[in-house]
Amino acid sequence: MNEYLPGLEGIPATRSNISDIDGEHGILAYRGYPIEQLAAYSTFEETSLLLLDGVLPTKSELADFDNQLCRNRALKYHIRELMMTLPATGHPMEMLQTAVASLGMFYPSGERLTGSDVAEDLNYVHTMTVKILARMGTIVAMWEHIRNGYDPIPPRSDLSYAENFLYMLSGNEPDPSLARILDICLILHAEHTINASTFAMLVTGSTLAAPNSVMASAIGTLSGPLHGGANQKVLEMLQKVGSPDKAEEFVDSKLANKEVIWGMGHREYKTKDPRATILQKLVKDLLDTRSDEVNIMFETAMAVEKAAEDRLSSKGVFANVDFYSGILYQEMGIPTDQFTSIFAIARTAGWLAHWREQLRDNRIFRPTQVYTGEPMRDYIPLDKR
Ligand code: COA
Repeated sequence: MNEYLPGLEGIPATRSNISDIDGEHGILAYRGYPIEQLAAYSTFEETSLLLLDGVLPTKSELADFDNQLCRNRALKYHIRELMMTLPATGHPMEMLQTAVASLGMFYPSGERLTGSDVAEDLNYVHTMTVKILARMGTIVAMWEHIRNGYDPIPPRSDLSYAENFLYMLSGNEPDPSLARILDICLILHAEHTINASTFAMLVTGSTLAAPNSVMASAIGTLSGPLHGGANQKVLEMLQKVGSPDKAEEFVDSKLANKEVIWGMGHREYKTKDPRATILQKLVKDLLDTRSDEVNIMFETAMAVEKAAEDRLSSKGVFANVDFYSGILYQEMGIPTDQFTSIFAIARTAGWLAHWREQLRDNRIFRPTQVYTGEPMRDYIPLDKR
């Protein structure tokens, strides 16, 4: 095929049995299980194992996986020292990419992927998967303290992934209802077929690069505002709009300037993203117990969504996962510029599941191009130009 399709729209980059989207009907399933059921009944740890192994774990398999994650939460002090040398003003996603890339230096492994002995590689892949997934939350939470000039709070092993993350952020016992909301957010963000960051991960993984390099590629790709960076942009946008009565005017002026409405639109969905529906309900449920400020933010969000939908639904543009997540993260006391890092923690499960799938049937990615440059010509010496 020689036809060039910008953004590779509609071109399959791999075969995968990890997740599936029905964009016409707004359906998302991980390993065949609807996202609504996973959000209602599962945990981030269980969903991660489902994504990685393809089956719902038994009680003892899940307990074993939880245990492995808990045992791997702590980080060597070298990572903390490295993080302390980074500028406090740097974006958390850049810190995360740097810290994750450095794990390979501080935890050197004699083992390498061979690409030939799959059985042996898969042991290594599992070990690295657990270590990386466990440490993502620790790195993100540590940075919050380090960049503010404090010592990080060490992880606890008696808490779930979401609880421990909130504990490491604040040093307080996590509020069980907020921890469950975070748990659901992590489930919802854990996987989403071949999006830009997962594709970046597949490309890097296909060279048999080390897992920390694979993760660094994916994290860098997720950081862009057209991808994971949108959740931060949404909250900043809602703060700028300020109140529901300003929503229409705001959307009109954005569209007149050919600017995007953050948190709206998705390549795959031609209707509302099912994750946005779940998150919107979570915000609504939280309202009963929370401040007026959240109410105004939520009402503003709904007004912006409606105004944008009225004007853009004919183009298949509806709210996506990033539209409502920020309001929840803000209630958890998570700073706006850390929102995308939370997305990265969650998506690590999906990235590593795809990495594993790629390695099982690997071929290095080497696409082609449509050349649009000059025809062959002779070099002109410098003094003749
Ligand atoms: N605000 C305003 N217009 C939008 C829009 C948005 N958020 N998303 C899409 N559109 C418009 C496009 O301008 C285009 O209009 P046109 O046909 O008149 O040129 C049309 O809808 C089709 O969109 P397109 O840019 O082709 O979609 P895409 O698949 O290439 O891009 C996104 C998808 C996600 C990059 C895009 O919707 C976007 O930039 N959204 C905002 C960022 C965001 O929330 N990202 C998180 C995704 S989970």
